[in-house]
Amino acid sequence: MELHVSLEGRKNLSREIYRQVRSAIVDGRLRPGDPLPPTREMARRLGVARMTVTIAYDRLAGEGFILSRVGSGTFVNEHVANTRTTSREPRASGVLRPRPFWNSIRATNLFAERVPFDFRTGVPDATLFPYDAWRKLLARELRAEPVPSNLYGHPAGHRELRDAIARHIGVSRAVQCSGDDVTITNGTQQALDVIGRVLVGPGDRVAVEDPGYPPPRRIFESHGACIVGVRVDEEGLVVEELPDNVRLVYLSPSHQFPLGVSMSLPRRIALLEWADRNNAAIVEDDYDREFRFSGRPIEPLQVLDTSGRVIYVGTFSKTLLPAMRLGFVVAPQSIRDAIHAAKFITDWHSAMPMQAALARFINDGGFARHVRKMSAVYRVRHEKIAAALSRDFADILELLPSTVGLHLTAIARNVGPNGMGAVLERAASAGIALHELSQFSINRGPRDGLVIGYGAIATARLDEGLDRLRECFL
Ligand SMILES: Cc1ncc(COP(=O)(O)O)c(C=O)c1O
Repeated sequence: MELHVSLEGRKNLSREIYRQVRSAIVDGRLRPGDPLPPTREMARRLGVARMTVTIAYDRLAGEGFILSRVGSGTFVNEHVANTRTTSREPRASGVLRPRPFWNSIRATNLFAERVPFDFRTGVPDATLFPYDAWRKLLARELRAEPVPSNLYGHPAGHRELRDAIARHIGVSRAVQCSGDDVTITNGTQQALDVIGRVLVGPGDRVAVEDPGYPPPRRIFESHGACIVGVRVDEEGLVVEELPDNVRLVYLSPSHQFPLGVSMSLPRRIALLEWADRNNAAIVEDDYDREFRFSGRPIEPLQVLDTSGRVIYVGTFSKTLLPAMRLGFVVAPQSIRDAIHAAKFITDWHSAMPMQAALARFINDGGFARHVRKMSAVYRVRHEKIAAALSRDFADILELLPSTVGLHLTAIARNVGPNGMGAVLERAASAGIALHELSQFSINRGPRDGLVIGYGAIATARLDEGLDRLRECFL
């Protein structure tokens, strides 16, 4: 990397070059062994006489910061780490302040820490991902040929991936769309952001499930929306409790997060009728439908919608890896161009080589095979946890029925005087990570309970993890 040296408005040029190179070495921007440009090249770049640079380099060499090797060039001295005398001056923290909303959100890496018994929800088993197949798929897309996917592409995404997704969700979920209706995004998260840009303005009311998945409400709030939490019961979102003047409703009907219920057909119909009366948009988040262990899948709202007001959102974070950041939006035609435009001004498009590789993975049958393999793995974990909860935790937890996805939820019957917080503290000391149900509440009183994920924990560690968890309730 070229070191930036600025001589603008400076007088003693040799001293400036010396000072700036020295401080780059001292504060670690240049590391031991890093090459410096030859004096002739540095002089040409800076528009100074070669002698000016030579004087600076001689002084740096004299003080032991750099050394020249005949025939190979000038380098930062390997021993410079020991010669550091001063450290870089701390920069002023700055006078700028974010808008108040941004103080309410922390950017964190929730999964940075490895935990012996990881029951956190929202992640698949990354150890069982087909890495060899994907290395080959990606290598194929990263050749030096001038293939279109190596240049800027269309904001809607890679053509073949859009078609492959349309076929996949058409077959497996009966979603009615063609590749033209699909826009590829960086996960559900960006899908919701793009939808928010297109449909939500300051002061608009947006309804979300309560309890519910936190990112959507944050995203819509960031666009200026007023968030209304709406109760969820055993049939899904309680449509009668939706207030008027709601511009958009976000929900996860096929496997409500976090309670796990599937929205009943009468409720889905009632929601569509309500949306027609109120001229509202519906965002259907279908995030983990691929993993179904029994029962019939429910029909997506997108299929039942006759007015073109449902926007269907999907992700590959559960079926493949969240780190890939690949998701998609199926938008009604009336907002399709605006969705493309919003994606365009946000980041132009998602990474094309990854999209092209995924298109091939789906079209070659690799994706379906991987989902089948993972379904079998998750089914075992789901059954083991459900059995243990009904058997060993029956006096303290009530398991909510759920036959889909990567987590189970249980409501606390009796957790002792110090509540679920104390249980979770004991769990953390026992090497167990998991989510408390109350952290997903909005304005309804928090409900005590646990959300137990089984994507990240190996099947072989389940029994011990559950035994330890049981002890945390004593
Ligand atoms: C309800 C819900 N939707 C979507 C996602 C996936 O989000 P993304 O595609 O941004 O990784 C998750 C992940 O935990 C989720 O719980």
